[in-house]
Amino acid sequence: MSNYSKPDYWSLKAQKEGYPARSVYKLKEMDEKFGLFRSLSGDTGSHADRSSPDREGRIFRVLDLGAAPGSWSLYVLRKGGAFLTAADLSPLSRQYDKGLFDGDNFCFIQGDITDQKIREEILSHGPYSLVISDAAPATTGNRSVDTLRSLGLAEAVLSYADGLTKGGSMVIKVFQGGDTAEILKRLRELFATGKSFKPEACRSESFETYYLGLNKK
Ligand SMILES: C[S@@+](CC[C@H](N)C(=O)[O-])C[C@H]1O[C@@H](n2cnc3c(N)ncnc32)[C@H](O)[C@@H]1O
Repeated sequence: MSNYSKPDYWSLKAQKEGYPARSVYKLKEMDEKFGLFRSLSGDTGSHADRSSPDREGRIFRVLDLGAAPGSWSLYVLRKGGAFLTAADLSPLSRQYDKGLFDGDNFCFIQGDITDQKIREEILSHGPYSLVISDAAPATTGNRSVDTLRSLGLAEAVLSYADGLTKGGSMVIKVFQGGDTAEILKRLRELFATGKSFKPEACRSESFETYYLGLNKK
């Protein structure tokens, strides 16, 4: 069994806790560290009912890009309160959702997030308070090809910052090694804080990391 096919600590934990992918622990760690669901100014951190409008008429809308098989989406829906839009080329796994993906606070769009029509459809469900993207191209094993494709995808994800509310936040997965510095620079221009973070649950040999833009100007 290769290192990639051998179930590891995080994969086993995900199975036990009812998530289709280990990646959920990366989002959980970023949420715990950066308070992703408290990004609205004036939000006290209570997750009581964010699918209802707050005093200023805002609904806490979350966009999950590259969502399949669906761990990040399940994390958001289990947290409760938000309206979630998720998009991916592939359908979500229905193995663990216990009907959550049928809820009226959830919408799934199957398609290419870099396609203009899909982008318009996704943005029509906004504006969003939080955009989370774990989108990654299918890897070829050729690091320069993979890094270049990932960069193109990360740039497309960055363009969804147009659909964020003021004070909103964004998480983008990037593969280190390419010219990702420009993405971090743009995040620092658009958000009060722009930073890079590699969660514990990333495989040690993986060259993925996450860029965060917190509190959109
Ligand atoms: C690492 S997986 C995401 C895992 C997910 N966060 C979870 O927790 O279940 C990366 C996903 O990005 C999707 N993806 C890659 N390119 C895409 C594109 N252009 N449009 C939509 N989804 C894309 C892939 O289909 C794949 O499902």
